[in-house]
Amino acid sequence: MSEPIQLSDITWESFNAMDVGAKGRYLARNNREYHVLVAQQFTRNRLEELGALATAIRRISKQEEGMTFLRSLLANHRAMLYFSQPSSRTFLSFCAACEILGLNIGEVRDTSTSSEFKGETQEDSVRTFSSYFDLIIMRSQMGGLAERMAWLLSNTERPVPMINAGSGKDQHPTQALLDVYTLQRSFEKRGSIDGKTIVFVGDLARGRTVRSLAWLLTNYRDVKMIFVAPPELQIGDDILALLKGAGVSFELMSEFDRAIPLADAIYMTRIQDEWDAPGEKRKIDISRFCFTCDKLPMLKSDAVIMHPFPRRQEISVEVDADPRAVYWRQMRNGMWIRTALIAAIFGKEHQINDFFARQGG
Ligand code: NCD
Repeated sequence: MSEPIQLSDITWESFNAMDVGAKGRYLARNNREYHVLVAQQFTRNRLEELGALATAIRRISKQEEGMTFLRSLLANHRAMLYFSQPSSRTFLSFCAACEILGLNIGEVRDTSTSSEFKGETQEDSVRTFSSYFDLIIMRSQMGGLAERMAWLLSNTERPVPMINAGSGKDQHPTQALLDVYTLQRSFEKRGSIDGKTIVFVGDLARGRTVRSLAWLLTNYRDVKMIFVAPPELQIGDDILALLKGAGVSFELMSEFDRAIPLADAIYMTRIQDEWDAPGEKRKIDISRFCFTCDKLPMLKSDAVIMHPFPRRQEISVEVDADPRAVYWRQMRNGMWIRTALIAAIFGKEHQINDFFARQGG
């Protein structure tokens, strides 16, 4: 068998210029994830395996013996969380995931407290982390930075895996994993994600979660996507071109009420006005794109409402009490799927599945 291709086999210029779908081939080692950088690196089969692993971990952790087993798996490893962009859920769920597996963690969340403040480049910062840690989990407001850093690390004598925990406006692959896991669980009794209609609402132009999730959904058969947004926040042509290329059917709408009855899942998002130029906060009226209680009767009885969070006014708090509102569960799913992903990166998947099988599944 020929050796698998790795990031160290290619120049940065060639990797960077490559079609995103082709990048995945460079991100695996030993037939499993090594770097996790783009949603496009996951196949349907892998999404199902990771979902099953997350469920095994969730069930195992219900018992003390299971918790002790999980905690022993990576007790000799350390993870660095390098989050130079604000985060609550992604950061905390990665911390919790590391703790479940026994990894110790270090963090930089405010670069004014690190040597970057003294003029150190991000490249040198990341190489420094790799001297002390076995995994780097990174969030940055710069699109493509995690890819660049992963390439850089792969070309040093101490390469460590890199997980992209959100990069600029372009990618948030682990959010997409937890969103797909939530959809898998929500549709468990209704077949699968195949054939479902997913309605995306809000700031689709700048929301990286929508971009990564829309791509992951192309792995399923006959999924229809409906994008509902004011014209200035509608989904980018690049994603639409990818969807077209993948043969996915989609529709753009500006009227939310028309989309609601068609949905099997509604994916709400907030306005990402942190991307507006300073002093140029655009006043966009999104009142027509909010999910309020009066919309509940329009929604199918077995549909689900999701949101990556944080939310503002786009879902009223009163909607939380409806059983179709699954966003709090979705958030917790993030911890399980991230635990599964880290376990998989370090080759612990079989051990977990064996333990789960011994417990009677
Ligand atoms: C999202 C993000 O950071 O892209 N949040 C998250 O990771 N759960 C969505 C957002 O900030 O609106």
